[in-house]
Amino acid sequence: MKKTVKDIDVKGKKVIVRCDFNVPQKDGSITDDTRITAALPTIKYLLSEGAAVILMSHLGRPEGEANMKYTLKPVADRLEELLKIPVIFAQSPQVVDEEVKKKAESLKAGEVMLLENVRFRKEETKNGADFAKELASLADIFVNDAFGTAHRAHASTAGIADYLPAVSGFLIEKEVKFLGSAVENPERPFVAIMGGAKVGDKISVIRNLLKKVDTLIIGGGMAYTFYKALGYEIGTSILDADSVDVAKDLLETAKSLGVKMMLPVDVVCGREFKNDTETAVFSCDNMPGDMMGLDIGPETIELYKKEIASAKTVVWNGPMGVFEMETFAKGTLEIAKALSRTDAITVIGGGDSAAAVEQFGLADKMTHISTGGGASLEFLEGKELPGIAVLEEK
Ligand code: 3PG
Repeated sequence: MKKTVKDIDVKGKKVIVRCDFNVPQKDGSITDDTRITAALPTIKYLLSEGAAVILMSHLGRPEGEANMKYTLKPVADRLEELLKIPVIFAQSPQVVDEEVKKKAESLKAGEVMLLENVRFRKEETKNGADFAKELASLADIFVNDAFGTAHRAHASTAGIADYLPAVSGFLIEKEVKFLGSAVENPERPFVAIMGGAKVGDKISVIRNLLKKVDTLIIGGGMAYTFYKALGYEIGTSILDADSVDVAKDLLETAKSLGVKMMLPVDVVCGREFKNDTETAVFSCDNMPGDMMGLDIGPETIELYKKEIASAKTVVWNGPMGVFEMETFAKGTLEIAKALSRTDAITVIGGGDSAAAVEQFGLADKMTHISTGGGASLEFLEGKELPGIAVLEEK
């Protein structure tokens, strides 16, 4: 177990907190502030305990350039609205410079400042020791609460822990609790639902989950690679050609482990990859050569719903179809609804499935929605995340 902010005395201390404020934006305004609100419990706790709080994050991939398209200014503004206290934005192309150091030095208990995008410095993603030291020099304690970036060994997520006492914030604690216990100590039956376009991206997750689940449900674009492995016609559906052999192997592994692996039995096909195309439903072994599968079919939805209804733990990662297009959103919507109705523990991986659940207005019906896309996948693969590994043990 890692130490958290509750295990240390922060009164009168300067605490530097790594958050994941990598939020989506459109025309300079934030379109989804989930990651900011998810960081608030830790920030508020530190402030209430008498710490001076210095926040840092990356935004996008500016590749070591101080590109103002990626400034954290909009995040500073939103934080100010949410915290209802002034947030000092220490804007500097260097992230840490003499001015910023002075601001940090004079920061008082109960005050908050936010550094500029740490990826404005090229040393950040290289985990450069000098930059890590510069960041550490601003504070007495390091708190990592950036679950979404915990799979990156960067200066602000991992390197800094070489120079300061390092503990986790409440968000990382919560993510580890839900993702960790769902996978390591699940109430059974344990059902995992995997979707998304490519098998290749999720091989390691599927392999790890096969050792733990009772049922593995497959949907989304990756189903067609499994069909190919079974010798079915897949028409013009998306194919992850490099992963056909892997798909065969995964099917074999499931069989040998006694895991029930469910593939869609029918699919909604479209003539073209667009919302207002001609559509038809076909059984999985009867797809025409000139159409593409874009969603799971009605029979599959019923079978998957039944499986979910009898589960005690469900982990879901990846949509069942092209849910961004209304015509092909039904499979994903029905799975989300089934999850919202069950009493089982429901854990939603970050990224597309989290976005789908939000889009359908069902987010508050889930036990836990991860704020990490890549990070939650690596966690489900059973990997130790570097941003968590560096934190002190209890
Ligand atoms: C994410 O959005 O997955 C995290 O913020 C990590 O971003 P990255 O993939 O650019 O490291």
